[in-house]
Amino acid sequence: MTIATRTVREIALEQPGSIRVFERFGIDYCCGGRKPLSEACAAKEIEMDAVIDALEAAAQTPAEVADDWNLKSLTHLCGHIVATHHAYVRRELPRLATLAEKVVNRHGATRPELPIIQATLARLEEELTQHLAKEEVVLFPYISRLERAIADGGEKPASCFGTVANPIAMMTQEHDGAGMLLDVIRKQSQQYTPPEAACPTYHAFYDGLREFEQDLHKHIHLENNVLFPRAIKLEASSENRDMAVEACGASCVQ
Ligand SMILES: [Fe+2]
Ligand SMILES: [Fe+2]
Repeated sequence: MTIATRTVREIALEQPGSIRVFERFGIDYCCGGRKPLSEACAAKEIEMDAVIDALEAAAQTPAEVADDWNLKSLTHLCGHIVATHHAYVRRELPRLATLAEKVVNRHGATRPELPIIQATLARLEEELTQHLAKEEVVLFPYISRLERAIADGGEKPASCFGTVANPIAMMTQEHDGAGMLLDVIRKQSQQYTPPEAACPTYHAFYDGLREFEQDLHKHIHLENNVLFPRAIKLEASSENRDMAVEACGASCVQ
């Protein structure tokens, strides 16, 4: 299999340095990461050879000291996501809303894209606020209980949602929705490029939006591509073990 036919998600997981390359070319490695690299480049009308050259260069560069999240417990990973990325979203969205209001008040009459960006950002804030709460109140605590139960040799914890794949499917769908709203903001802002002679607030607003997108991509990558597949696998392993115990119990009785 060549790098062109591998999915963007696989490349991001195996080579963390590739994430910077994908960010630079605007290639989605989290929500849209299931596409092969060739397809992702074609969708963005990007020269694939340039991306491959950049990926090869990134592979030669000493990697940043990055945590290998596949070696950490799921409880640790959930804690990291909440403390780092959820805290960032909660801190940054109100700041961006304040900047949006200032920029719209001053330049909205001559820049029709600004009220669109402001409204899209407000919708993103509303959706993400609910999304983070669902993860923190329902999904992440369940994953931690599941991991603890398996470590202690206990039974799979009870839940109101059937298997963990159900809330994960819902969260993944909400990630796609957030990704689409970010796409609107990215396009309306011309890839976060302020007009010439824009004021410092305009620059601060677009810089903040760009950073917000980068952080949300890392956040969703950790959930979609690391946490969720591992949680589904863990639950399946606990179900297989419970079935084996039941089968053993039945044969011992006979
Ligand atoms: Fe999250
Ligand atoms: Fe999420």
